Amino acid sequence: MNQCEPVPNARTGWGGRLFGWIDARFPLSKLWRSQVSEYYAPINFNFWYFFGSIALLILVNQIVTGIFLAMSYQPNAHLAFGSVQYIMRDVHWGWLIRYLHTTGASLFFAVIYLHMFRGLLYGSYKKPRELLWIIGMLIYVCLMAEAFMGYLLPWGQMSYWGAVVITSLFGAIPWIGSHLEIWIRGDFGISGATLNRFFALHVVAIPLLLLFLVVCHLMALHEVGSNNPDGIEIHENLDDQGKPVDGVPFHPYYTVKDLFGVGVFLVVFALIAFYAPTLHGFFIERNNFKPANFLQTPPDIRPLWYFTPYYAVLRSFPNKEFGVSAFALAIVLLFLMPWIDRHPIKSFRYRAPMYRILLGVFAATFLFLGYIGIQPATLFWQKMGLRIAELYFLFFITAWLYARRPSRRALLVTFFAALAGVLLLDWRFYLASIAPLIWRTLVIPVAYLVLFYLVPLLWPDGLRDRTVPQRVTFR
Ligand code: HEM
Repeated sequence: MNQCEPVPNARTGWGGRLFGWIDARFPLSKLWRSQVSEYYAPINFNFWYFFGSIALLILVNQIVTGIFLAMSYQPNAHLAFGSVQYIMRDVHWGWLIRYLHTTGASLFFAVIYLHMFRGLLYGSYKKPRELLWIIGMLIYVCLMAEAFMGYLLPWGQMSYWGAVVITSLFGAIPWIGSHLEIWIRGDFGISGATLNRFFALHVVAIPLLLLFLVVCHLMALHEVGSNNPDGIEIHENLDDQGKPVDGVPFHPYYTVKDLFGVGVFLVVFALIAFYAPTLHGFFIERNNFKPANFLQTPPDIRPLWYFTPYYAVLRSFPNKEFGVSAFALAIVLLFLMPWIDRHPIKSFRYRAPMYRILLGVFAATFLFLGYIGIQPATLFWQKMGLRIAELYFLFFITAWLYARRPSRRALLVTFFAALAGVLLLDWRFYLASIAPLIWRTLVIPVAYLVLFYLVPLLWPDGLRDRTVPQRVTFR
């Protein structure tokens, strides 16, 4: 456009003229229109669709509060713990900034887990959203790294010993493990050098990567369009003007609706940050109020609640190599979800009853693993961890099988193959001292296999899908 031509939506007043001046040189209103006011979203979004915008809000909260914390924090092994106490007691509003950051970290994971589960419910990882899901999973892994490194910074007992345990896991990788462990720590043990590099990564490198990935996530979303609770592609049903019949512009409809979700979230956030910032040791662990002491190992070393499901998987194998591999596999399988579940129906609403039960049991499995991860590392909890971890992995096999509309023979063959796998694990990790425990808990995977592989033989309707409607519905 010629610079002397009037801007199409030129406004009056100095604000309007400034806007017009910028708009003629930068695609401000074009971006707003294409990404917000003319981005058509399905009309049937429910509360599950609040969590994406809430996650964005928390990301901003973490960056802003993090900048203020970094102004008074000292990334030095001798000063770090004291500098956090200084922030809490002497810096104006320092206590609030720290609690907004710690509460934000935990709620970030709560919101992301709900956001991911919504993806599983409505099949949002399926074509054409596979890449959107993969980028989401990359964000999740970055978020884990970000939280892990941030946790070392207060230099408390749990910070220190948590870092010792988690960095030592890299030592289990064949051939390169021991070198990798030293490379990550920057020293032979966790020391000031580790603290310095974790600070740099936590404050600069990973947030930059996260921001980049979030922009890619939103670009990928806007390229393919949002899914919805019915799993129907609204862009396949257009009106005379080429607009989706079942869509509404994101602004003002969903900006206003999301504001409601954000309001409810902020109430919960404020209640925790002001009245229960440690949440009884769940958001800030008691042991972390003691300075790091490399001569005194705490009786129970465990990560914060959001890592405990994976921690339970890791701990359930007596052999470190197996534990680390199972932990890695637990995450890799989530990445592969678009290729594991290739069933043409997206939303669980129209999937067969057995698939809905499968999803419910998977959610319960994940929560139970989280519970097991906070229990003491006794043989009982280790064995229970293994049993529930087996169910976690069986979910992916079952989802894969159900997506292929299995024959009776396929169900039976998979039943026996999975049972053989479970028994093989028992044989591999057999301990005579806990033989009765092994036999008694075997009932858990066997009941799972009977439910998902043998019950459909007697109840074929359990695997029958429902008809997907032509247009989106409201519930
Ligand atoms: C910093 C973290 C993240 C932010 C800020 C974020 C943001 C968003 C936003 C704003 C949306 C659109 C609104 C909505 O559908 O709720 C969205 C959609 C989506 N996100 Fe994320 N996200 C994050 C992490 C993740 C993760 C970890 C995954 C899964 C692995 C994921 C998977 C998806 C999928 C599949 C959609 C499309 C859902 C649909 O259309 O049904 N996101 N995300």
